[in-house]
Amino acid sequence: MSSSDSIRIEKLCYSIGGRKILQDFDFHLERGVNRTILGVSGAGKTTILKLLLGLLEPDSGKVFIGNLCITGLPEAQFLEQRKRIAIVFQGGALFDSMTVGENVGYRLLEEGKLSQGEITNIVLEKLSFVGVETALDLYPAELSGGMKKRVAIARALAADPDYIFFDEPTTGLDPIGVHNICNLMQRLQAEGKTTLMVTHDLATAFSTSQRFTFLHKARILFEGSEEEMRGSSIPEVCEFLEPTDRSLFYDVQTVNLKQPEQVESL
Ligand SMILES: Nc1ncnc2c1ncn2[C@@H]1O[C@H](COP(=O)(O)OP(=O)(O)OP(=O)(O)O)[C@@H](O)[C@H]1O
Ligand SMILES: [Mg+2]
Repeated sequence: MSSSDSIRIEKLCYSIGGRKILQDFDFHLERGVNRTILGVSGAGKTTILKLLLGLLEPDSGKVFIGNLCITGLPEAQFLEQRKRIAIVFQGGALFDSMTVGENVGYRLLEEGKLSQGEITNIVLEKLSFVGVETALDLYPAELSGGMKKRVAIARALAADPDYIFFDEPTTGLDPIGVHNICNLMQRLQAEGKTTLMVTHDLATAFSTSQRFTFLHKARILFEGSEEEMRGSSIPEVCEFLEPTDRSLFYDVQTVNLKQPEQVESL
């Protein structure tokens, strides 16, 4: 697979107010390999997605979309590459003052390349794909949490991206809602989309991804398959998979950048 078919982070460091959020972070998302980044709340998962999209500037290191290094570039210079990626934000991030249909068609309307009729057809197709076409004229405030997530996915799909990032797509949903979102992600993958999810929900991760990255205290402690993760002897990974009363090291506010004793499959 050529590097034009991947998104990469190389040796990235990022801090907020002097606190290290990511340290020497390397990451590679190839087309066709669906990945999940796991980590406790506050570990830096959403931050990684923002860095990948060029919404945040790292202290050092580089982000590549395809062959283009976007780090330090003005957004206008990587807009075409950026359009290959869509994101479903953690809270859905729908515009409250717009209907569902307007939310889903917003980006296409902004681009100004398609007629209103063409946009309406795409909006209906995407809403139908996620199973909420009857919500076309409703406002976000009139939707349940599960419906909001589905509309957010439909909006992400509108511009036909190659990669779709999901930030905690199942958090706060009931078991049926979780099942529906996992099913949607699997259907998208079957259609050739590559998904990158960040979450702390293991069941969602294992049912939708092939590769897993475990983030802990600003560093990657593990990268590998589900089988490798379940067989890992790294204490933090074991604790994440099956929490015990020893969870004191999940104090992510006091970042202690000790070297991991063991790094598997990097
Ligand atoms: N704008 C900000 N100002 C100050 N600190 C921030 C800001 N954004 C994020 N942080 C801090 O950076 C760290 C990483 O945040 P991030 O949102 O990436 O975590 P996360 O892994 O996505 O957490 P969650 O699972 O709760 O969504 C957190 O400790 C957070 O407090
Ligand atoms: Mg987050």
